Amino acid sequence: MDQPSVQLSHRIQGVAGSAIRALFKHSARPDVISFAGGNPGSFALPDQQMASLAQQLLKDQGKVLLQYGQTEGYAPLLDLLPGYIADALGAQVSRENLLITTGSMQGLDLLLKVLTNPGDVVLTESPVFLGALQAMHLFQTKVVPVPCDEDGMDMEALERLMQQHKPKLLYTIPTFQNPTGHTLSLGRRQHVAHLAARYGVVVAEDDPYHQLRYDGSPLPTIKTFDTEGWVVLLGSFSKIISPGLRVGFMAGPPALLERCGVCKQCSDVHTANLNQALVAAFLQQGLLAPHVHSLCQRYGSRRDAMLDALAGVGGISHYTRPQGGLFVFAELAPGLKAEPLFHHALQQGVAFVPGEHFYAEGGHTNTLRLNFSNADEDTISRGIGILAQCLNGLQ
Ligand SMILES: Cc1ncc(COP(=O)(O)O)c(C=O)c1O
Repeated sequence: MDQPSVQLSHRIQGVAGSAIRALFKHSARPDVISFAGGNPGSFALPDQQMASLAQQLLKDQGKVLLQYGQTEGYAPLLDLLPGYIADALGAQVSRENLLITTGSMQGLDLLLKVLTNPGDVVLTESPVFLGALQAMHLFQTKVVPVPCDEDGMDMEALERLMQQHKPKLLYTIPTFQNPTGHTLSLGRRQHVAHLAARYGVVVAEDDPYHQLRYDGSPLPTIKTFDTEGWVVLLGSFSKIISPGLRVGFMAGPPALLERCGVCKQCSDVHTANLNQALVAAFLQQGLLAPHVHSLCQRYGSRRDAMLDALAGVGGISHYTRPQGGLFVFAELAPGLKAEPLFHHALQQGVAFVPGEHFYAEGGHTNTLRLNFSNADEDTISRGIGILAQCLNGLQ
C-alpha cells in the first residue's frame, strides 16, 4: 500500500527508475524479439558447471562459506585476482590494491560515495551506460558530458573540461562502450592516465566487456598507464560468467579502497561468500578461458548477423561496428524519432532501447541501442527485417 505522507530524501526525488528496466517488462514477453537488454545470452550462463562447483564447495567449506566473511573479499579469490587481471586485462595490481564488490556497479557507487558531495562535477562519456548516470544523479553530482568520436573521448575536450570544472571523477567505459560499442584508442588511454595525474582527477575505468573481443587486438587498460594511483579499475564477472552472482572488483590505491571498504561495510558487509567462491573455483579450475573463447565465437557471429542485417535498412543513417561487447548504436535519418519507432516495433514484436536515455544532456531522439547477445542469427535478421518495415511505415 502507498504511504503518501512519506517524505523522500532530496537524493532520490530527482532520480527516475531505469527506463531500461521498464522496457524489460515488455521485452521479456516470449513473443518479442528483444534487442533491448544487456544480458548475456542464456547459453552463456554456465549453470551445470556451477551446480557441481557449488555442491563441492558446500561439502568442503560449507561452514566457512555460510558464515560472515571479510569485507575486502574471500581470500582465495583475492589471491587469484592479480594473476587474472594481469592475463585478461593487462594491468599489474597486487592484493592490497583490491576490493571485491557486489558487481562493478557497486564499485561506482562506492567511489561516488567516497569522493563526491552534492553539486560536484563528474565527467563522463556521452552517451553512457544508464545505470552509471542514475548512480551519479543519486549522489546529486553535476554530470558533465565529454564529447566522443569513434575512438572514444575527445582528448582536447577532456582536458578543457578538467581545467574548467575541476571534476572529482571521470567515469569511462573504454572498451566496447555501453551503449555505442566504441573503444578508446591506445594513445588516448595513455593520455587519459596522464591527464588524470596532471589535473588530480580520479578515473573510474569500468571495463566489463574487455574480454568479449571478436576482432582486432586487445588493448591495455588505462590502469596499465597509471603510475601515480589515479585510476580505479572496475572489473566484473557479470558479462563473462554470470550477472546473477554479482561478483566484481575494484583495483586502485589502498587508501581510497580502505574508505570504499568502510562504505561497503555499511551497505552489504561483504559480497556473498558462496558467489565469490564459485568465481574463484571457475578461475582456479581453468574454466574461464574456454568459456570466454566460446562466448566470443557465438557473440561474434551474432554481431556479424546484426551488422549484415542493418546494411540494407533504409531510414538508418549510421550505425557503429563494434569489435566486441554486446551493442550496436544506430542513428535514424533526419526527421525520424526512436520513441515512435519503439512503440510501433513493439506492436510488431521487436524491442530495443531508444538512445536518448543514455545522454545526460538529453536530446538525440533519433538514436537507438541494439543488443545482439540474446537472439540467434536467424532471429536477429528477422527482427531487423521487422524494424526495417516499421521504419518504412514511419517515413
Ligand atoms: C558499462 C557497464 N558497467 C557495469 C555494468 C553492470 O555490471 P555489474 O553486473 O558487474 O554490476 C554494466 C551492465 O550492463 C555495464 O554495461
